[in-house]
Amino acid sequence: MSLLKEFLSQVGEGYLLIDKEGRVVFGNEFMIKRGLLKEDFEGKPYYECVNNLTVVSCLAEATSEKRDRLCHFDHEEREYSLYVFVGSELTVVRFSDITELKRYERSRKEFVANVSHELKTPIAVLKSLLETLYEEEDREEKRAFLEKALKRVEDMRRLVEDLLILTKLESGEERIRREEVDLRLLIEEVFELLEPQAVEHSVSLLNLVEENFKVKGDWDKLFLLFKNLVDNSIKYNKQGGKVEVKAYTRGNYSVVEVSDTGIGIPKEHLPFIFERFYRVEPSRSRERGGTGLGLSIVKHIALSHGGRVEVESKEGEGSTFRVYLPLE
Ligand SMILES: Nc1ncnc2c1ncn2[C@@H]1O[C@H](COP(=O)(O)OP(=O)(O)OP(=O)(O)O)[C@@H](O)[C@H]1O
Ligand SMILES: [Mg+2]
Repeated sequence: MSLLKEFLSQVGEGYLLIDKEGRVVFGNEFMIKRGLLKEDFEGKPYYECVNNLTVVSCLAEATSEKRDRLCHFDHEEREYSLYVFVGSELTVVRFSDITELKRYERSRKEFVANVSHELKTPIAVLKSLLETLYEEEDREEKRAFLEKALKRVEDMRRLVEDLLILTKLESGEERIRREEVDLRLLIEEVFELLEPQAVEHSVSLLNLVEENFKVKGDWDKLFLLFKNLVDNSIKYNKQGGKVEVKAYTRGNYSVVEVSDTGIGIPKEHLPFIFERFYRVEPSRSRERGGTGLGLSIVKHIALSHGGRVEVESKEGEGSTFRVYLPLE
């Protein structure tokens, strides 16, 4: 019995034994530490020493009906599930802390709700465009509707692609290569891809990375990382603004800075901008085609390289994103 008690005092779950008269014969340390059971419980009726009303009523129902039961309850900001196994001599009660599980479940539900919400609008627009197209006789008008429809399809394709890459990065499934990457060349290619957007917003792009500046990493992933940062720096810039990329070595890290002369990010939003679906002004960034996944992709690519991202920003003046990549 002492070995069993020793074991029960170490486990990460709560145990309570109640005799057939309803008196507590045993409660483990977990129960006392979590404030679920009074310390001088021995021989007392459970309703006098268990500190939670939901637990007491669950035990009362189980013991009076002589039926096993499963209940859930909150106690001191933690969530628990409670299993009552009613035996002929003893009732065994097990308490499991399900706070983390519930948190995970909530974030999963929130994620599904966000994705559905993001897809709902383009699907509705696409549907009405196609309905109008069906009735439309004029060739030019038809073409205009088709172009709008294609744009919506492209938005959805991008959303799904971003979600897939993010899910893979978060689960650690994505293989990260560690090769020598010529950073100046990589930034040059990012600029080439985003040139049309830069021209459209009258923003100039400056690659200040020195020649032969090498970082260790995965070309495709780093390309995606800097594409997202530069894309934001163009999108959230002012007419005639500037985007600069430079790189240097600090301690054991290569540091790559992407700075812009754009609208900046208000201080109170800074802690959240790397979260999935977070946008400072949802209506404004939606109009610029964003879903708020870009910076979480940036964060996860940096993390998967053993690095991190920092941001500094002043509203109305501009922002600097600093990516740290380990040298070794
Ligand atoms: N350089 C920047 N200047 C000002 N605001 C920025 C900048 N970069 C990001 N933000 C703000 O942070 C939010 C989150 O950025 P993120 O890249 O994750 O999303 P997005 O650009 O809206 O959408 P997506 O990147 O998925 O197309 C943006 O909506 C914007 O409000
Ligand atoms: Mg973005």
